[in-house]
Amino acid sequence: MDILHQGERKYHIEKNTVQETLIIPLYGRKVCSEHFPELFKDPEAERICSMLDYDFAEKGKKMESAVGLFGALEVAQRQYDLAWEVKDYLKKNPNAAVVNLGCGLDDTFRKCDNGTCKGYNIDMSDVIAVRNQLLPESDRERNLAYDLNDETWMDEIDAKCGAVFFASGVFYYFKTDDVKALFQKMAKRFPGAVIVFDSCNRRGAKMMTKTWLKEAGIADVSTFFSLEDKDELKKWSDDFADVSAKSYMRGYRDIYKDVSFLHKLMIHFCDRLVKMIIVKIEFKG
Ligand SMILES: C[S@@+](CC[C@H](N)C(=O)[O-])C[C@H]1O[C@@H](n2cnc3c(N)ncnc32)[C@H](O)[C@@H]1O
Repeated sequence: MDILHQGERKYHIEKNTVQETLIIPLYGRKVCSEHFPELFKDPEAERICSMLDYDFAEKGKKMESAVGLFGALEVAQRQYDLAWEVKDYLKKNPNAAVVNLGCGLDDTFRKCDNGTCKGYNIDMSDVIAVRNQLLPESDRERNLAYDLNDETWMDEIDAKCGAVFFASGVFYYFKTDDVKALFQKMAKRFPGAVIVFDSCNRRGAKMMTKTWLKEAGIADVSTFFSLEDKDELKKWSDDFADVSAKSYMRGYRDIYKDVSFLHKLMIHFCDRLVKMIIVKIEFKG
């Protein structure tokens, strides 16, 4: 997994795997940190990218274009949105479990840590192996190697003081039926908890087959998760107390006035035509 490179250890990320998909948001946060430091300063993303054995040349070229920079803004904004929800939940439940589903090399828990909550970062074993080197566990933070479709991961979560689950750029890789089964089981298992995650409609998912989903080998998104309207989720379970949603780009911190004309147009496109939203499901208590 790791190699020695010019006297310094570097951690290898395999190409054309689901694992590789973690590179885009991580690198996007780094690029954003460099290009829009007043909006998103993320020294951790910069540090982690510098420690990976991965050829960023192709992604770098794409992401440095005006359209590519919008992708970087999207992933940084998404992390901001989800962190906002985590911090909001922690105000009322300061000792809660904070669970990052499909964590990749994202450090949202550390950005939200109030000193008393408990963090859990869950991903496939090959990702957790790299994570353990770059973002090792601490007293209140654990890295767990599980396929989220294997519900035994739920046994690891201490939700006695509440739980806030979040998934950033993850459910696009899941079949709709698997997302449904996962949410139904979670709602039964974690009463009073919330889950927040990003989603887009089928058009958006199709567009992602040319970028994000390509590395995971997904070309046909017809059976994969996408959402035209958050209300579709209300029918999924009687254990949901509420389903709400906000604009991904403008719902939490409106950066509209801070971006270029092209990026303003792209924000409208994402809101109206691709339906990029942050969804929050509250489970009945
Ligand atoms: C696009 S990356 C996002 C990573 C991270 N959430 C972020 O925003 O930087 C998708 C992540 O989901 C993970 N993932 C996909 N399917 C999974 C599954 N069935 N179980 C656990 N993790 C999964 C991948 O390994 C990858 O790390």
